Amino acid sequence: MHRYTDETEELARAVLAYARDRIAGEVPLDGPLPAEELARQAGVTITHEGLGGEEALRVWSEVLAPATISTDHPGFLAFVPGAPTKASVLFDLAISASSIYGGSWLEGAGAVWAENQVLAWLAGLIGMPETAGGVFVSGGTAGNLSALVVARHAAAERRGGRPERWQVAAADTVHSSVVSAARVMDVDVVSVAADERGRLTHEALRDAVAGADSVFAVVASAGATNAGIVDDLAGVADVCARGGLWFHVDGAYGGAGLLAPSIRHLYDGIERADSFIADPHKWLFAPFDSCALLYRDPALARTAHVQQASYLDSLNARAEWNASDYAHHLTRRARGLPLWFSLATYGTDAYRDAVEAVLAITRETAEEIRRRDELELLMEPELSVVLYRRLGWSDDDYEAWWRRLLEAGIGFVQPTSWHGERVARLCFVNPQTTIENVRPILDAMA
Ligand SMILES: Cc1ncc(COP(=O)(O)O)c(C=O)c1O
Repeated sequence: MHRYTDETEELARAVLAYARDRIAGEVPLDGPLPAEELARQAGVTITHEGLGGEEALRVWSEVLAPATISTDHPGFLAFVPGAPTKASVLFDLAISASSIYGGSWLEGAGAVWAENQVLAWLAGLIGMPETAGGVFVSGGTAGNLSALVVARHAAAERRGGRPERWQVAAADTVHSSVVSAARVMDVDVVSVAADERGRLTHEALRDAVAGADSVFAVVASAGATNAGIVDDLAGVADVCARGGLWFHVDGAYGGAGLLAPSIRHLYDGIERADSFIADPHKWLFAPFDSCALLYRDPALARTAHVQQASYLDSLNARAEWNASDYAHHLTRRARGLPLWFSLATYGTDAYRDAVEAVLAITRETAEEIRRRDELELLMEPELSVVLYRRLGWSDDDYEAWWRRLLEAGIGFVQPTSWHGERVARLCFVNPQTTIENVRPILDAMA
């Protein structure tokens, strides 16, 4: 198992050929199968003697892989798709081969330095000071939780005590992971009614937190996932500054928009954030899984998250950047490296152009919807989400629509709800998606 034999060489060629074909070829769409059907087709895969690499790879490529939906298919417009660059995927393979421990400077200095270059670039886009820093975690859920833990820790230190219950304020359109983080932390959420477009506004937040001493942080979305709308960040920053509240910005999905000159103004005020997240596996063209987590004052994060144990003493005694110290984890894959390699390869201008390309296909789709009598755009897209209704459709019609599209291999979409109504939602992050991918999806609603 651990020696490199002729058999390993053969397997290496087969696995690398599989990966190369997947990267070079047309992206499959496919779809799930029931567990019983997978069991029937795959047979017993975990055995005493092992199947051998060739057979295991056959089961994967012929049975299991086709039971997955590739998020980088240009017709994948459900949830939040992914669209990793070629360089980011290739380098992910290299990282997998390297057994790098990304938790400490001692073990992972080169990797952590490269990740920190990416974080510094993001901090620059936001307008955070050069002293800002953080770490890559597995996803937005982990990022939001880690940031809020720091926010609460900082509030407790500053206030010199704890209220009976802590509270975090956010719009009712905030991502479910924030509510989940609050549950994990056993804190309450002050759910603030968003405006008509789904935005957290200065006035609504100010009224909601007035006199609430137990609120320690506000989470603003940039942007909220369902409708792709950015909160009033400057207004939220004002309320936070006045109330001494931690200002966290969830840019897991929409943070990439910071790169796009055409929408940069939507993010005004973000430079005042105490913490920020963006998921490279969403709109920053990196493979799963990765979330960039940044703090204005990383020393606060270290105090909240550093783990103390005798066998770690020599790490903690060194004044070095131990990446693990900045989130709720210890062992970590250096999961910022695919983005670093890709940025280093292509340059940031290519990223700016790719984000703008996604915004362009989003706007083109909105135009196309406006041209069709049976469809109604619910609002002008701000980022890369289009919400619209098919006049006269019931919940069942939307359900049948997406199933039809997946079965036909045209695309993968999902309906959502907007002000209590079942509606259609398309989310773009793939610059390879064109109007030719979108039209058949809209045609299927005619
Ligand atoms: C705005 C926002 N925040 C947080 C998350 C959670 O991120 P993850 O799925 O990477 O945990 C998502 C996921 O879609 C999101 O869109």
